[in-house]
Amino acid sequence: NKTITLLAIESSCDETSAAVIRDGKVLANLIANQKIHEQYGGVVPELASRAHMQNIVPVVDLALKQAGVEKNELQAIAFTQSPGLIGSLLVGASFAKALAVALNIPLIAVHHMKAHVLANCIDEPRPSFPFLCLTVSGGHTQIVLCKDYLDMEIIGQTIDDAAGEAFDKTAKLLGLPYPGGPLIDRYAQQGNPHRFHFPRPQVPGYDYSFSGLKTAILYFLREQSAEDASFIEKNLPDICASVQQTIIDILMQKLIKAAEDTGIREVCIAGGVSANKGLRKRLLEEAEKRGWHAYIPDFQYCTDNAGMIGFMAYHQYLAGAFTDLRVTPSARGDW
Ligand code: KG4
Ligand code: ZN
Repeated sequence: NKTITLLAIESSCDETSAAVIRDGKVLANLIANQKIHEQYGGVVPELASRAHMQNIVPVVDLALKQAGVEKNELQAIAFTQSPGLIGSLLVGASFAKALAVALNIPLIAVHHMKAHVLANCIDEPRPSFPFLCLTVSGGHTQIVLCKDYLDMEIIGQTIDDAAGEAFDKTAKLLGLPYPGGPLIDRYAQQGNPHRFHFPRPQVPGYDYSFSGLKTAILYFLREQSAEDASFIEKNLPDICASVQQTIIDILMQKLIKAAEDTGIREVCIAGGVSANKGLRKRLLEEAEKRGWHAYIPDFQYCTDNAGMIGFMAYHQYLAGAFTDLRVTPSARGDW
């Protein structure tokens, strides 16, 4: 009955995060945001890599300190292997390898998108298997059928932009800083979601498309602003609420279809966009209406974080799924 204590590193995009996990419980989950990208209107990969390089040692030290764990108590080092920005992933992977070699303990390579799904299982109440998870982040939009901790299948995904991108690109058109998702969320709360109408795409199966919406919003704003130069300024809450409503409708339509077709009533959301207040509310409403049990990760486990990486790594540890030291990260992240 020996306890298992792991250190997890997440560096796939612009957040440097370290977590300490003991027997599946997150003891510390530290996230250093990289403010540097705001002024560029998006993540600049080379600046992200450099910031990870600066942040990683202090973030890891602080996570260990907060957890009250010494390095020599660790049983394995986990890190995000894919998908993500390659330069960012390389920093986390190299750090994890170095520490695993120095401590002479095994290495565990974790898939970032699978870890997002399992974020729903970190705290009570936990979904029971099999469950459906709508994972919505800056780079991905997926409906995942999760049969067990290490047994997941993508049953639908976006064929172009991700839902988070739709939020961020709309925000950019509205002159809001990056990342725009949380700001649209905030303005939407004071706006009328039925004021403006945007088209819903026709995509077969459980797949998604958001590039048409982006174009529709661009033309809409261009037209309206030509008539009234202060259109955006005057109508910001209504525009944000209407766009957000459209994105939520598109997301939920396929999730409902997947739940109906599979008969699964354990339904989760995950990823950065699952922090969206409108989406969270809508999920709970649909659950009430349809007799689902709905789950949403704690806020700290919605956006990128090492806690979810460590949680998945714990289950890989139990399954003996360790990684060779020659492992390399991958930007694409094949399932
Ligand atoms: O999962 P995540 O932190 O990083 C990726 O793996 O991509 O997701 C980031 C995305 C960004 O597009 C951001 O705008 C969006 O999540 N996001 C939100 C909210 N909070 C974060 N979108 C809408 N409403 C929010 N409250
Ligand atoms: Zn993510």
